[in-house]
Amino acid sequence: MTGEAARLCVTNAKGGTGKTTVAINVAGALNERGRDVLFVDIDPQGNATEGLGLADAYDRAPPTLFDTLTDPAKRSAVNDLIESHEEMDVLPANIDLLHAEHELTIADLMDKLGSNHPEAVQALESQAINTKREHISSGYAIRALDTALAAIEYDYDYILIDSPPFYGKLTDASIFATQNVLIPALTEATSERAIELLIEQVAALEEHAGITVDTIGVVANRVEQTSEDEMMVDWFNAVFADHPVWEVRKRVALQRAFSAGTSIFAYDQPVDMEAVFLEIARACDRKFGFTEETL
Ligand SMILES: Nc1ncnc2c1ncn2[C@@H]1O[C@H](COP(=O)(O)OP(=O)(O)OP(=O)(O)O)[C@@H](O)[C@H]1O
Ligand SMILES: [Mg+2]
Repeated sequence: MTGEAARLCVTNAKGGTGKTTVAINVAGALNERGRDVLFVDIDPQGNATEGLGLADAYDRAPPTLFDTLTDPAKRSAVNDLIESHEEMDVLPANIDLLHAEHELTIADLMDKLGSNHPEAVQALESQAINTKREHISSGYAIRALDTALAAIEYDYDYILIDSPPFYGKLTDASIFATQNVLIPALTEATSERAIELLIEQVAALEEHAGITVDTIGVVANRVEQTSEDEMMVDWFNAVFADHPVWEVRKRVALQRAFSAGTSIFAYDQPVDMEAVFLEIARACDRKFGFTEETL
């Protein structure tokens, strides 16, 4: 494809809901449908990066994704960071991303203080790694990933982001850069609060940044055949009445494929959840205007 890639972000600030598993397998399903995918691991934990066999990239010396996010002079270095995987290209996470929340928070404060408080801005700058006063423009921190992705010189059909398990600058920057969210949630009671907080976070971001964020759907994950699981799926369907709620069963094969460094589509044993991930990929294709003919 030439032109802008469709972008989506797999997000839920609650830990362990299946963001990484869903992101890798949706990427695998999109690849299966003939789409070119760039997988972006913005989670400082680097689970997807390591899972996709790119542990060396996680430990690589600068410049890394951290620098492309926080130093305008290093934006174009993003092209040198992209790694090949049999199913997708990968923009890997790196251990330096552990500094990104701090750095982007400083940048945001410098942005808010503006030119009225030069001493405070100078003090903040002295605490930063890459951020300089002259870099800052309105909305600098929230635009960091959007700007870094704009510097990518390759054409992709999709850019798919695996986001970290916390509310913060990296998650906000991921949602801002994509304006489309896919939400994996466990079928357990604690998911209710997680979903309510996510809805609030997205609403606040929409207002603050002047954007509209679309929900692609919810992936009820690790579903088992109990009445509690059924009740939670019903709750997801009620809260997201206008959106699809897909059900991914608890399957050890998903963990095995992850350990083998691939999605279930490139894994050597068939897994019965392939149909669900293909359905999610088909829904993405419909939403972003890819037709069967463009396969
Ligand atoms: N449907 C499933 N069946 C069985 N195991 C699963 C399933 N989905 C995820 N898992 C396992 O659950 C664990 C957490 O999943 P995963 O790492 O994808 O969650 P996450 O939301 O990305 O976590 P974090 O919040 O730490 O980023 C992993 O060990 C993963 O293999
Ligand atoms: Mg994860």
